[in-house]
Amino acid sequence: MRSKTLSTGYKMPMIGLGTVGFAEGETYPAVRAASKAGYRHFDCAFMYGNEAEIGQAIADVMKEDGIKRSDLFITSKLWNSFHKPEDVREGLEKSLADLQVDYLDLYLMHWPVALRKGVLKPRSAEDYLTLDEVPLMDTWRALEDCFDDGSVNTIGVANFSTQKLDSLIMEARVAPAVNQVELHPFFQQNDLRSYCLHNNIALTAFFPLARGVPADLSESKRTDVVLTHPVIEEIAEKHGATPAQVALKWSIQNGIIVVPKSSNPGRLAENIATLEYDLDEHDMARIAQLDRKRRRATGASNYFLPGSPYTWENLWDEPRPE
Ligand SMILES: NC(=O)c1ccc[n+]([C@@H]2O[C@H](COP(=O)([O-])OP(=O)(O)OC[C@H]3O[C@@H](n4cnc5c(N)ncnc54)[C@H](OP(=O)(O)O)[C@@H]3O)[C@@H](O)[C@H]2O)c1
Repeated sequence: MRSKTLSTGYKMPMIGLGTVGFAEGETYPAVRAASKAGYRHFDCAFMYGNEAEIGQAIADVMKEDGIKRSDLFITSKLWNSFHKPEDVREGLEKSLADLQVDYLDLYLMHWPVALRKGVLKPRSAEDYLTLDEVPLMDTWRALEDCFDDGSVNTIGVANFSTQKLDSLIMEARVAPAVNQVELHPFFQQNDLRSYCLHNNIALTAFFPLARGVPADLSESKRTDVVLTHPVIEEIAEKHGATPAQVALKWSIQNGIIVVPKSSNPGRLAENIATLEYDLDEHDMARIAQLDRKRRRATGASNYFLPGSPYTWENLWDEPRPE
């Protein structure tokens, strides 16, 4: 499988399995099916609440399918409630134990947001800590320590703006090698892409399929969904591919790593088969026109509750859209 060489020298497969949102009992079979389909990269997080199931599936993959730990690329993410430097190690140890591994290939700071210890999802103002109380740089220094002792091969961030990356890079001893952000044909993040390219930070796209197709999609709304947009459908038809393959290929051809989630064996195979054909310049130019510059993962339901120190403006470092 094609991979990207990170600033730390490690190779990260361009396609990984997204692991958020599996229904009860779906995680283990999805990871086993993904491994059978050829996935070696798994995008996990403490927050997703299923690392123990993933860990069991990975242990069984290694035992029964003859796959070695060194063949796998396992990412996890430090949850916001472990941001105090003295708590970072505990967050990491929990993920390592649940995933049944003794190191991670990549560990990301999940959000530039700090929550009180023990809080999974904030419910009131008391659940937040400000970035003055727990500066991102202090959390990053603790992640650098995890990098130094070999518990993680590479460290990075998620949901970071160019401004936040810039501040981090200025003071960091170990530069962030990856930023994982929402990115797909309707939200193309051109400025962030240029910044990351210039600073040797690999981008991973979450929501690379823009979350698939809603079950109740009406005919009149098809242009509001990436996978049913006529441009994506036409390009797919031209290449004898599927809309999902076109969306993923668009990211990959732009040098962006993708982590599509599926629990369906057919779609798992479909998504990883993306690498077999190339989009031409005309296709890429047409998709470039689809950018709506509107994020879906706004953080609003978690981070902007009354009394929260976080706002659209200070989280994303951009004005809130009308
Ligand atoms: N860093 C962050 O803050 C952050 C935030 C969100 C997500 N993530 C990561 O990014 C991953 C991907 O995001 P996501 O899972 O929310 O969205 P996604 O991968 O864009 O879309 C997943 C949806 O698309 C469907 N799907 C998968 N393959 C398909 C295909 N070939 N054709 C049609 N539909 C298809 C899936 O349904 P089925 O399962 O039924 O196939 C699922 O409903 C997550 O799993 C997680 O690992 C990170």
